Amino acid sequence: MAKYPGDIHGQYMPLLLAKDHPELEVPGLMYIDLWPIAPPMLAVFHPDMMAQFTQITSLPKHPSLASEFRPFTQLNDLLNMSGERWKMWRGIFNPAFSVKNISSLMPSFIEEIDVFVDRLKGAAESGEILRLEDAAIGCTTDVIGRAILDVRLHCQTRKNELQEALRRQIALLWISNAPDQLVMALNPLRPFRMWNNNRIMKNYLRPHIERRIQEYLNGQSTGHNTILSLATKDFLSRRDSSGGVEVDERFLDIVIAQIKVFMFAGHDTTATALSYCYYLLSKNPSTLATLRAEHNTVLGRDTSTTRAQIATSPTLLNQLPYTTGVIKEALRLFPPVGSIRKGQPDFYLTHPDTGKRFPTDGFMLFSLSLGVQRAEEFWPRATEFLPERWLAKEGEQLHVRKNAWRPFEHGPRNCIGQELAQIELRAILALTVRDMDIEPAFPDDSPAVWGEKAYQVMEVGMITGHPKLGMPVRIKMRV
Ligand code: HEM
Repeated sequence: MAKYPGDIHGQYMPLLLAKDHPELEVPGLMYIDLWPIAPPMLAVFHPDMMAQFTQITSLPKHPSLASEFRPFTQLNDLLNMSGERWKMWRGIFNPAFSVKNISSLMPSFIEEIDVFVDRLKGAAESGEILRLEDAAIGCTTDVIGRAILDVRLHCQTRKNELQEALRRQIALLWISNAPDQLVMALNPLRPFRMWNNNRIMKNYLRPHIERRIQEYLNGQSTGHNTILSLATKDFLSRRDSSGGVEVDERFLDIVIAQIKVFMFAGHDTTATALSYCYYLLSKNPSTLATLRAEHNTVLGRDTSTTRAQIATSPTLLNQLPYTTGVIKEALRLFPPVGSIRKGQPDFYLTHPDTGKRFPTDGFMLFSLSLGVQRAEEFWPRATEFLPERWLAKEGEQLHVRKNAWRPFEHGPRNCIGQELAQIELRAILALTVRDMDIEPAFPDDSPAVWGEKAYQVMEVGMITGHPKLGMPVRIKMRV
């Protein structure tokens, strides 16, 4: 790794190893001894072998995920739960992510996206170089506030206690034994800081939860399914009929843990994806022209009406296949995160071409989306940004191979928020790309990986891959 920029994200490591030491790779997987930085890893980047431990069998998450999250959510959250308990909560939350429910929330999402659009316009006026990802994180966090709490968090315009405490807390999660992480983890003040951040988040969320319970009891539900409203409904339906409305602390802790993990999982992943959409579009002008043409056809040429159109007819966002292709390509080339599972004594991966079996016991199985999604053997013209591959039919050269696209992972533990993320991204693109040009503005001496200055980095306080320097951009309004 010393050959590459020091901040490069860990998910590149197996690929760089495979490139520099091809003799170490069995096609599609690699055993890597990471002691003492992390547990021994089996990085897998063959679509069918990835399916073997996430879809055909869904192996349990690797325990390192639990040790990372325990001080944050006490593992009372969907990402870390398992078995029947996970199944029950996933069932409770599923209705929040139906296309119908997301569409019903679209007018409130658009209010948040308006603030983001104004921020971009402000940067165009001032000529400043904007850290695009920071602006995008503000927007995606505010959208999540609407989707999970039905509350305006105003993260884009002022400091929000909940978001600030969440970000500080994420920065204290102990991800690996890399030297900077060890310094953070061994700081004697860390437990106190984590306790305090949890306290601030609980104090912020408690009144919202108590109010929602009261509203339900008074028959004042908004009709939207949010994470909070669904958890509240479930809580009230299970309360014994003679019971009061005292919120029991156990319920409060679980709901707060769930809210925290939804905010955690949904804000920077979606913001990163948006940043890479703009980046790739700016580097591919003909693709950008095709995207704008699709928006003109479906939404009309007058961009001043787009906002109202989407708010009143959110289903228009489901009629933008090329836009969907743009988003899928950005997530293919720059997936923010993979899944880690626990190998088992009696569980072997079988190579589909050779039939050779590979033991998994004692290894952290890493489903490496970045690896499979850039592999030439599964993706024709793999390094090119080609939204049209998502329109290709079976038999056509660019047709997408089964299991090869997995930024949201597949199988029962796939991303519950994937529809929300993609609809939100389509709405943001529809409300921006025709009115402005967004160009990357990396310093001349910024390092590159695979010729790309916008490579994914590991930032302090972030687990997922982020664009280098937060994706600096210059914005110009189009006349
Ligand atoms: C582009 C945006 C997103 C990407 C790339 C993404 C990716 C992923 C991936 C790869 C997983 C599996 C993680 C694992 O196996 O450990 C996952 C799980 C999850 N995601 Fe997302 N995600 C995105 C957006 C969202 C949003 C918007 C939300 C919610 C508001 C969300 C909530 C969750 C939750 C709660 C889980 C755990 C699900 C379970 O285990 O049942 N994600 N996501």
